[in-house]
Amino acid sequence: MNFTLPDLFARRIEDLLASEAAIARALPKWIARTRNEDLRAALERHLKETDAQSARLRSIAKPRAGSSDAAARCPATDALLAEGEERLRDSTPSDEADAAIVDACRRVEHHEIASYAGAIGLAAALMDTSAFEALKTTLREEEFADETLAKVSEKNVERLREAFTRKAPDVDVSGREPIARA
Ligand SMILES: [Fe+2]
Repeated sequence: MNFTLPDLFARRIEDLLASEAAIARALPKWIARTRNEDLRAALERHLKETDAQSARLRSIAKPRAGSSDAAARCPATDALLAEGEERLRDSTPSDEADAAIVDACRRVEHHEIASYAGAIGLAAALMDTSAFEALKTTLREEEFADETLAKVSEKNVERLREAFTRKAPDVDVSGREPIARA
């Protein structure tokens, strides 16, 4: 299949718009499920950023004829969100559920980071300076969101580790170095 660079860029922007829309639909459900104030604050902040990111994408490229925001899907994002939902189904608020939320959100974040990085490369190839700068702004927000989730996760993992070693005292973790977070 032949396509032009502008077509490829437009498709990438449409995928990102679909991705942001799916994330904006999912985040409120996950915010409602956490009892961790730091996690809630991080997700609420990112939900607001997601709206701004969608507006930024709309300013970059007009939708192609026949495509619409409402109908557009990003299958990769949908799959990651569905997996997260599956893990959380029937869960009650707990440190374990928070760990599942962080895990799911970071997988989504890393997909977004890769997608925005790709879009930035295409904007550079097209010498579209304003799109390049707008996409860079969003990429920095996504990276910051991921770092924030990593910090929230650190404290949660520490609580889980303590609870785990209390419940399973025969597991000797004394000689193990703590695992550095990514
Ligand atoms: Fe985003």
